Amino acid sequence: MNEALLARYDASLRGLARKDRLRTIAPRAGLDFSSNDYLGLAASKRLGEAVAAAIARGTPVGATGSRLLRGNSPEHEALEADAAAFFGAERALFFGSGYIANFALLTTLPQKGDLLILDELAHASMHEGARAGRAEFKLAAHNDIDAVEDAITRWRAEGGMGRIWIAVESLYSMDGDRAPMARLIALADRHEAFLVVDEAHATGIWGPDGRGLAAAFEGRDNIVALHTCGKALGASGALVTGPGTLCDYLVNRCRPFIYATAPSPLVAVAVREALAMLSDEPQRRVQLQECVAFAGRQLAERCGVKPSGSQIQPFVIGDNRRTMAVAAALQTRGFDIRGIRPPTVPEGTSRLRISLTLNVDEADISAMVEALVEVLAST
Ligand SMILES: Cc1ncc(COP(=O)(O)O)c(C=O)c1O
Repeated sequence: MNEALLARYDASLRGLARKDRLRTIAPRAGLDFSSNDYLGLAASKRLGEAVAAAIARGTPVGATGSRLLRGNSPEHEALEADAAAFFGAERALFFGSGYIANFALLTTLPQKGDLLILDELAHASMHEGARAGRAEFKLAAHNDIDAVEDAITRWRAEGGMGRIWIAVESLYSMDGDRAPMARLIALADRHEAFLVVDEAHATGIWGPDGRGLAAAFEGRDNIVALHTCGKALGASGALVTGPGTLCDYLVNRCRPFIYATAPSPLVAVAVREALAMLSDEPQRRVQLQECVAFAGRQLAERCGVKPSGSQIQPFVIGDNRRTMAVAAALQTRGFDIRGIRPPTVPEGTSRLRISLTLNVDEADISAMVEALVEVLAST
């Protein structure tokens, strides 16, 4: 064995361990307080039956090629047609994952000479896309509209001539807070800018029929939205919705779309069924909001936590080691709560990310809060 070959990776892993930042993959166990299966659709009977029926009528597992070649199937097209109608956009395009879709959007749409301004807390996939893309890019302080406007004004004053792109999440994945959507749209309009909105944690839950927090603005020429399908929709993949011209441009210019095998037609069937469930089963959203309110009250009363008001509730501990020790103690007691450390969250803000889903009920939430109180006192 040539140890020198692997030495630098080994050293890097040991460095992470010294900072209490070494990650490992653990089996799934305990009550679900960590998944993004907010509406409990992933294992729902209806989603499973839709896929079983598709298999029974001969829908293939594999797409067999790129969407631009033989990989395009009626299931993809039916999903995209339904999704465009559901979200109120001119068109929709289905990608294999939200990560790839964000990366693809930000490396394909903003052009050389443009300026891309990204919220500093936006998802890693947006940061990677911004870094790899052709446009100049700047980070803006989280949810700070004035910072975005200042960046635009400065760039123009320095001679920037291109188009402005603003990229945000609508509901932030690690803090559970919302973007100031109406003000962002107004800002984009003022500067004839495009707004890219990652609705990953809003799709299915927030907005009319679960259409997301930018639902009122979809269909406009300057909005591109990303609706991931592996979270509240219980499947996988992502739907990009926006103007037809931009979707055509992606089909022609977006390398991660062109040079990849299309997602499984069976997944397209599942996502299409999930969209139908959002319309047919609004009680799931109501039930989730009740869970969110119940957990918010309990956590505020018993642990002094400020409720985020959404299904994502951070509990910031700060120290990496203590965060992981608290998470481990909760897991030992049967509650699947994960610790989140840098670089996923800013340095010094390690936290428990408590996720509320329909996979638990109020009794489970009460038991979890009780356990959290005890564990915090002893860890
Ligand atoms: C805000 C946000 N955007 C994009 C993604 C990536 O989506 P996917 O898991 O479908 O790749 C995630 C998932 O972690 C996310 O939280």
